[in-house]
Amino acid sequence: MAEFISSFITGFQDVVQEDLAARFPKIKILNLMDGLIHYRFDGDSRELEKIIYFNNTFFVLKTMKGKGLNFPSLVGAVTSSKNYFLVNKGSFRIRFVQENQFAKVDKSLSRRAEDYVLANSKLKLDRLSPTNEIWFSIRREGFAFCGELISKREFTEKNLNKGELRPEIAYFICCFADINPEDTILEPFCGYGSIPTQLAKKFRFKKLFVSDIEKERVEITKARKQISAAPEGLIDCRVADALNLSHIEDKSISLVITDPPWGFYEDIGDINDFYSKMLKSFDRILADQGRLVILSARKEELEASAAAAGFKIKKSLHTLVNGKKAGLYLLSQ
Ligand SMILES: C[S@@+](CC[C@H](N)C(=O)[O-])C[C@H]1O[C@@H](n2cnc3c(N)ncnc32)[C@H](O)[C@@H]1O
Repeated sequence: MAEFISSFITGFQDVVQEDLAARFPKIKILNLMDGLIHYRFDGDSRELEKIIYFNNTFFVLKTMKGKGLNFPSLVGAVTSSKNYFLVNKGSFRIRFVQENQFAKVDKSLSRRAEDYVLANSKLKLDRLSPTNEIWFSIRREGFAFCGELISKREFTEKNLNKGELRPEIAYFICCFADINPEDTILEPFCGYGSIPTQLAKKFRFKKLFVSDIEKERVEITKARKQISAAPEGLIDCRVADALNLSHIEDKSISLVITDPPWGFYEDIGDINDFYSKMLKSFDRILADQGRLVILSARKEELEASAAAAGFKIKKSLHTLVNGKKAGLYLLSQ
């Protein structure tokens, strides 16, 4: 069975592990690290390219574990054995990566690696604009690998509206929430609709209320294919103030899942005051045993407001959103 390594956004390793096992029951996870998973997979590797949260995916030639790993020993281990190349046409270059940064190595070492690939594959060397890359990568956790980069996600920020979450983060947030088909869900700070789009695309639920205070954003959300094509009555999308939510009945929502303002880019006054009012509003509409899933870079303020409002943190993780440290929380009473 072939081995692969895929990278993904920091913090979500448990979500990735669970999601992959559900998609591919026969997958065997060999190593799970922050932002990286190493696994055995016997399906079509093109299936892996469809997974939105994978950044780089590698076909593994060699892995090593231990302290003091270095490039000469990794190159030595790779070149002393025979290897099969999954992509065996086109051109290649070698890249050395140390703790997520490209690294320079001695020319003789990179030549040795290049000569090995030339002798063991049909790939041609092109150091400037190759069709394939072969990485020798050493990680902080005492793990190193050599792999053929078989797919690479192009970041799509330029296609996003300002402040819109990347789709893979929205998907991760939904996975983290453990949604079930009986959930009545509310996303009251929907912005351009990243979370409701993933909900409508990949999850089953009973009813979804979506809102934002900005009319233009609500219009953009409403126009999204997944929202506009949803069965009649399944999704209610409108302009509303999340601190008020007068269209939602008391104790009618089983899950709030949202990315509220962080107070960095918009004027929402005092953030503690805003989060306290927000949680009071959620407290009214939340059913018994209801859950809140909230993403925020204002971790201290959110944690303090949640404690003051009587919510407990059931689960949390820490990640990076647009380069900012953010927390994802599951809260309940
Ligand atoms: C962090 S953004 C959400 C971005 C969204 N996840 C996306 O991908 O587009 C926060 C949103 O809260 C909205 N907002 C600010 N104050 C609000 C309020 N009192 N009620 C409802 N929405 C509000 C803003 O208009 C903004 O769209």
